[in-house]
Amino acid sequence: MNYSTTIANEHFDHLLLNAGGIFCETVDQLEKIQHAPGAGAVMTKSATAEKRAGNPNPRYFTYPDHHNTINAMGLPNLGIDYYLDYVLHHQLTLPTILSVVGLSEEEIVANVKKIRASGYDGLIELNLSCPNVPGKPQIAYDFDTTDHLLDRIYSFFTGHLGVKLPPYFDMAHFDRIAKILNQYPLAYVNAVNSVGNGLVIDPETDRVVLMAKGGFGGLGGAQIKATALANVRALRLRLKPEIKIIGTGGVTTGRDVYDHLLCGADLVSVGSQLAIEGPSIFQRLEDELEAIFAEKHIESLDQVRGKLKRLDEAE
Ligand code: SIN
Repeated sequence: MNYSTTIANEHFDHLLLNAGGIFCETVDQLEKIQHAPGAGAVMTKSATAEKRAGNPNPRYFTYPDHHNTINAMGLPNLGIDYYLDYVLHHQLTLPTILSVVGLSEEEIVANVKKIRASGYDGLIELNLSCPNVPGKPQIAYDFDTTDHLLDRIYSFFTGHLGVKLPPYFDMAHFDRIAKILNQYPLAYVNAVNSVGNGLVIDPETDRVVLMAKGGFGGLGGAQIKATALANVRALRLRLKPEIKIIGTGGVTTGRDVYDHLLCGADLVSVGSQLAIEGPSIFQRLEDELEAIFAEKHIESLDQVRGKLKRLDEAE
């Protein structure tokens, strides 16, 4: 299959990448994704202005079924200078997306200004959806703040920007966020971040499994597939076609990648299952996807992407 896909000025030869936060904090991890067979791109860990330790351990928990997770990482990262140095000065094999975040609007704007001043002209992802920093809301649940922030950034920034969104659960919210995003020349949206503030209980001890936030954390893995697909689909139906979509959430098999494509994803990222299996997962997922294409006699991505069928439409 020809997986060739373009977002802004970046060209991708494969569809899969790591979800933000997973396997991307250190140069060593980033390099493993760069060289993983089947990987099409690399996402760096969301960077704050200064290096952060994140929340106390335990802060990441894999369910005994090995397909689901909950985390309250709290944005541990090595700081914007570290990731900027990586994208500017390393020999990158794959398109690499620089993810940025901030604990305040001022910090986010300062990070984008720093990136612009560095001359970096690749894709930047604004993480507007981390649920794990105590006392800090998920920005993209506040529509006015999101609009104001993008307006502020686009008043000086002319590069290639994507936004990482939290999952939405209400049709009115899909309408609202899409209307805001459609006002800006965004390269893409990434939907979805973990489903914030779930709670997992250890049946042996009757205690929560995470230390921070009283055990509340972002859910990932197979359990969030339906929510992720709904968000990709709802956004694809509402966003202008120039805004591409990275589908994230619930990917453990090639069929999950296929379903994200049906809903309209341009690329697909893998989080929990990458943490469980390691970077060899990309080739496995691509092989499973190839098998589905062969079985269905699909010869081009155009036959699948956004081609989800409704029950009230003719076959
Ligand atoms: C984290 O570091 O808490 C996870 C990253 C995210 O949810 O954006």
